[in-house]
Amino acid sequence: MRTIDWAGDGIDLIDQTLLPGRLDVRHVTDVDTLIADIRRLAVRGAPALGVAGALGVALACRTEPSPDAVRAAAARLRSARPTAVNLAWGVDRALGRLGDGPEAVLAEALAIRDADIAACRAMGERGADLVADLAGRVPVSVMTICNTGGLAAVERGTALGVVQTLHERGHLTEAFPLETRPLLQGARLTCWELDAMGAPHRLLVDSAGPFLLQRGLADAVLAGADRIAANGDTANKVGTFSLALAARRAGVPFLIVAPESTVDQATPDGASIEIEDRGPAEVVGVLGHATAPEGTGALNPAFDVTPHDLITAIVTEARVWRPDEPAPGVR
Ligand code: MRU
Repeated sequence: MRTIDWAGDGIDLIDQTLLPGRLDVRHVTDVDTLIADIRRLAVRGAPALGVAGALGVALACRTEPSPDAVRAAAARLRSARPTAVNLAWGVDRALGRLGDGPEAVLAEALAIRDADIAACRAMGERGADLVADLAGRVPVSVMTICNTGGLAAVERGTALGVVQTLHERGHLTEAFPLETRPLLQGARLTCWELDAMGAPHRLLVDSAGPFLLQRGLADAVLAGADRIAANGDTANKVGTFSLALAARRAGVPFLIVAPESTVDQATPDGASIEIEDRGPAEVVGVLGHATAPEGTGALNPAFDVTPHDLITAIVTEARVWRPDEPAPGVR
């Protein structure tokens, strides 16, 4: 089953806010509903947002009365969430075909969808090889954060795609997903996907990750990315930076797994990445239940930035990039 796809006159997407309780596919036929679904994280995860952005432009071509109105809808869609570069990238690629007509725009969006499916498969293979190499043996145990599985892409995921490949090869001892407060993507979505794969796993509270790395629980940490700056600094779900620090202290490889479309050459470093602020409501409560006294203030950065020197390697569909090593020919 695909997380997001074109279906007849609109977009089918799994409503991820209802998981793990209910698997519900929504049919979206207008751009403003799609924007609302992106903002409330019904569809989420950088690669899936890239496909949503491109399919959203294809949708606008069918519903908006003029090319200018399509451009205006695309601009709203592009800024629905600011950190994951794939959203703007997908919108811009589809919009680039506007002059060739609605079918060309849809064809571009479907090409992005198909490329994501192929890229995730390639990242899974390359990442699983690298984890085995770095560990010097198989089977291995790995720790993950947030949800980087098929739900964050189209069919297979990025970092969790590596876990899936390890499992399919018989090379996975156990996966340890972190819950990922405040919205619990690790608990709600990653555990649901690991369950569906039949992959052995145990859930950890976020604050247990660093300590259990120090105790040797995992052979590697695998994380996704929302935006990778030109120097390798990586924005990903908040909590990733502290996990990278702990992995370095414990001598555990810390890998980012993401498609080339997440690498943003226009952003020189992590300090230039806009971090989405999702407001206090998600912090002072859990899934709608208050956990702090009424009126409590809170900060809620949805992402943090891991400096490139803490990243052992970035695995894409095209390469293994070690951002802390000088580029070939550079001294
Ligand atoms: O706020 P979310 O759930 O969209 O955040 C998602 C993440 O941080 C993922 O790790 C990232 O998008 C990579 S998904 C393959």
